Amino acid sequence: MSHTILLPRFLEVGKNAREKIPYILKSLGCNKPLIITDQMMVKLGYIADIQKILKHENIEADFFDQTIPEPTSSSIEAGVQFIQAHQYDSIIAVGGGSPIDSAKAIGILGRYGGKIRDYKFPRQVNEQGLPIIAVPTTAGTGSEATKFTIITDDESNEKMLCVGAGFMPIAAIVDYELTLSLPARTTADTGIDALTHAIEAYTSKKANLYSDTQALEAMRLIGPNLKKVYFDPNDKAAREALMLGATLAGVAFNNASVALVHGMSRPIGAFFHVPHGLSNAMLLPMIIEYSIPAEPEKYADCAKAMGAAQQNDSIESANAKLIEALKDINTSLQVPTLEAFGADKQYFDEVVNTMAEQALASGSPSNNPRLPTKQEIVKLYQQLWC
Ligand SMILES: [Fe+2]
Repeated sequence: MSHTILLPRFLEVGKNAREKIPYILKSLGCNKPLIITDQMMVKLGYIADIQKILKHENIEADFFDQTIPEPTSSSIEAGVQFIQAHQYDSIIAVGGGSPIDSAKAIGILGRYGGKIRDYKFPRQVNEQGLPIIAVPTTAGTGSEATKFTIITDDESNEKMLCVGAGFMPIAAIVDYELTLSLPARTTADTGIDALTHAIEAYTSKKANLYSDTQALEAMRLIGPNLKKVYFDPNDKAAREALMLGATLAGVAFNNASVALVHGMSRPIGAFFHVPHGLSNAMLLPMIIEYSIPAEPEKYADCAKAMGAAQQNDSIESANAKLIEALKDINTSLQVPTLEAFGADKQYFDEVVNTMAEQALASGSPSNNPRLPTKQEIVKLYQQLWC
């Protein structure tokens, strides 16, 4: 059996990778890009920096900075109108996962029209929108190397997964220098998201030899460096490792899948506005503990790749060390409980059944090594309050 592997056409990796953006545009025959970003990136000077790099090669770029965290169907509308009103030939998406995910949706809707819910999974969106050069400023979502975008439906609160080659950026700029000024909370949340991608891809029912190589290498890069960057934001070697690890984790899950953690995480984000990486972190130790009995050897490999267990540890011992390491990451990186985050228990009890239904409907739990029923998912959600 063969596997289709989808990757960006260009991966520019390392210090100052962003300086190559004009050459990538030229090689694509593009000279009128729109930068899609958020206001924080403008404020931090990142957009002026990229405009200067482009200007040096005689390329002028407008920017659209109205993307929001956890983008919604209405938040991308202004971007769609903006792109339809001008003759841009490409998009440079700059920011964390949210501006990149927004740019992917805007790129498709800007060209083909309709509403984003028309494009949600299980539809495969293979139409080609404007070419996107993705410039991540967090080491986390891997969106620069995936065919996915997640947009929340304003009407139903559902986090819609949209999938297809049409959402794959043509280029990923993996420049760790852009992560040096990240706040500690964002470093932690996005880093745990990346680690979750690697673990879920490696243990997914859709894992294959190619995705396994990327997932294991991602864990080797992320595992020893996650706490380092949290406690020492200027550790450049650790930042560089984490940045490449996050992209490789994106490659891994793009060519395998995510699983139960992500399936359950999206409804927490949609109903309680918990950032994506943080809701993953709340779930990760508990869901891995639940899943280990179905694939103990693969989870032991994860523990060893992350550096949480030794090569000569038994499977049982490596699995115990994996849970311990994941709990330790949450404690060290000060991941709050759902209650400490401010979620309301009464509201949770009202919506938990819907959350379980949405988790199952996303399709991600069916890739998990251990398959939960809806009732089991409800019980797992309830454990968040124990
Ligand atoms: Fe994720």
